[in-house]
Amino acid sequence: MARNPEIVTIDPDLSSRAETKRAIQLAHFQIVGESGYGVEAVTVAKETPPDVFLVSVEEPVALALQTIEQLADAVPNAPTIVYSSLTDAQSVRRSMVAGARDYLVKPLKPEELSRAVYGVLEQEERKRLRSEGGTGEVSARGTVITVFGAKGGIGKTTISTNLATTLAKITGASVCLLDMDTRFGDVAIMMDIAVEASIADVAKKIDDIDRDKIKDYLVKHYSGVNILPAPLHPTEWRNMTPQHIEKIVELVAQTHDYVVIDTPGTFNELIAATLELANLILLVTSMDIASIKDTALALEMLRAAGVSEDKVKLTINHSTAANSLREDDVARVLEYDVFWRIPHDLSVASSTQLGQPIVIAKPYARVSRSIIDLAHALTGTKQEKRGFLDRFLGRSA
Ligand SMILES: Nc1ncnc2c1ncn2[C@@H]1O[C@H](COP(=O)(O)OP(=O)(O)OP(=O)(O)O)[C@@H](O)[C@H]1O
Ligand SMILES: [Mg+2]
Repeated sequence: MARNPEIVTIDPDLSSRAETKRAIQLAHFQIVGESGYGVEAVTVAKETPPDVFLVSVEEPVALALQTIEQLADAVPNAPTIVYSSLTDAQSVRRSMVAGARDYLVKPLKPEELSRAVYGVLEQEERKRLRSEGGTGEVSARGTVITVFGAKGGIGKTTISTNLATTLAKITGASVCLLDMDTRFGDVAIMMDIAVEASIADVAKKIDDIDRDKIKDYLVKHYSGVNILPAPLHPTEWRNMTPQHIEKIVELVAQTHDYVVIDTPGTFNELIAATLELANLILLVTSMDIASIKDTALALEMLRAAGVSEDKVKLTINHSTAANSLREDDVARVLEYDVFWRIPHDLSVASSTQLGQPIVIAKPYARVSRSIIDLAHALTGTKQEKRGFLDRFLGRSA
């Protein structure tokens, strides 16, 4: 959807309605109508049918639930999102049974609202395609792996560049590496490629971009990885929205077997989109206390956002030689299983200097072996007992 989604908000409490309107505006949606419950709501809905209804549900809830049902009859294509101060399971269940597609707890946060609105619209679009018998159009999608971490300098770019390279090498599959580091965007430097166009240029042409056209923006690395670089100037991210990211990730996922996404050590709505679109999230932490504390917060945030634990893989990267904590302690403190451990290796820095992924520069280094094993573990591919490095290097047996 190129334009901003249009919302009708239904809330009989005028001060709560005003707060909701503020959140809608901050989420950059358009308010095309507002009203209380009942007949008035249906009239407004029919006059200005929105993309999404935002309905307040408070005690006594019967009238609100009845309104949700009436709205679904009046504008069947517009999904309803409920917001409420009620957090009990019964209220959530009753709202869902009445037809609500998502349930947000007050106070409404613009980011949460944004995620919910795009989430239900995406579901709606899928439903539409299915009902048109167009499921073939929803093409097969490669696996999206987002390399995420709560802090800077913990090895996210090292892991994403080397993982992408390894995936291309060991699986022979098509791999796209997307630099979503909205601050520094180091992928081009680490992979030593020239940046002529970036993800920001794709975003500028978003309405014209399709599966074919996006290929023009990808830089082919000699490892086989197709790279979509970050813009050279971080200010260029400013005009980008989660919808841009969604379309870009979907297009590269439809044209590649694997998409690896590098992210910054900060969180914003663009990064939220990369997490939502991911099939797997490598949550990277280093072994220092600050990183572990921030990782605990990141895990909490992912849980609150409803991200399934199955897809979040905790990865310890020994990016420094510091050794004051034990890995077991990390798992205990975070109350989360460690999926992978990447050892410290001084040769990482030297290969970075050369602009070469370490898995190519030094495939026998400890870090390289670990990342190659990681790629096997993520893809479920079996590692050959003998000669896998030969295969990795492209040497015949
Ligand atoms: N396993 C490792 N062993 C040794 N050094 C490492 C390891 N992993 C990363 N490093 C070093 O740590 C530093 C930070 O790595 P990297 O740039 O990949 O982190 P990042 O999380 O992407 O940082 P930023 O958030 O700033 O983009 C680099 O100097 C890199 O060479
Ligand atoms: Mg980085």
